[in-house]
Amino acid sequence: MSATTAIGIDIGGTGIKGAVVDLSTGELISERVKLATPKGGAPDDIIETTREILEKVSEGSSSLPIGVCFPAVVKHGHTMSAANVSEKWIGLAAEERFEKGLGHPIHFVNDADAAGYAEAQFGAAKGEPGVVILTTLGTGIGSALLNDGVLVPNTELGHLEIDGHDAERRAAYSVKEREDLSWEKWAHRLQTYYSALEALFSPDLFIVGGGVSKSYEEFLPLLNLSTRIIPAVHRNNAGILGAAALAVKFPTTPRGPLVDEQVPATTTR
Ligand code: BGC
Repeated sequence: MSATTAIGIDIGGTGIKGAVVDLSTGELISERVKLATPKGGAPDDIIETTREILEKVSEGSSSLPIGVCFPAVVKHGHTMSAANVSEKWIGLAAEERFEKGLGHPIHFVNDADAAGYAEAQFGAAKGEPGVVILTTLGTGIGSALLNDGVLVPNTELGHLEIDGHDAERRAAYSVKEREDLSWEKWAHRLQTYYSALEALFSPDLFIVGGGVSKSYEEFLPLLNLSTRIIPAVHRNNAGILGAAALAVKFPTTPRGPLVDEQVPATTTR
């Protein structure tokens, strides 16, 4: 029998949040614990904050599957990019580092992919045929590309170069806040961004996630696109939900004692 509850932890450039999820309904069934992402976003600091969240969320019961999502390209458990966290993550065996730090096996995935998976299972992309692009508008811009509900991972469409700029540096929600842009001014930048996505992918549906999606009425009606664009059902909880659901879909096998497996130093002559 597969587990129906799991823990999801969503690591972002600004905050790290986690909760226990009921996977039969897609609802959070514990308090959502959120702590600030440590300044500088260095591996040890982020892992320690994640450990604190896990401790609070699991309240001593560590037997639930755990999924962790992270704002970087994730290939075979390694983080391969770092846009809003320390560059020390690039090329790091991150999944293994988390497992050692948390003392528990995890499923590890890109944050926007986790959100896309959650919306496909429990939200706005459920049963949607064709090409669906979910974008998360937060510290950066994350993307999940789905075709007939199947995810193509690590698309990184927040880093499309548009008019010589990295798209997320012009249109992420953090930019609206930092530059104190009105909804109209920000929507103008989003228009450029989504028009570029539309021209490249001819999607059937755009889904907008991230914390700001709760204010979707302020900006989605200002966009003029031929593709339908709707808010994510699970708003800013989609990452937590998707990470938890993926942890159940891909059960992890404990790798024996989770201790530091440093290669013993050898001498050569
Ligand atoms: C990262 C992506 C991430 C997105 C949202 C981007 O800067 O490159 O991997 O999904 O931010 O957090």
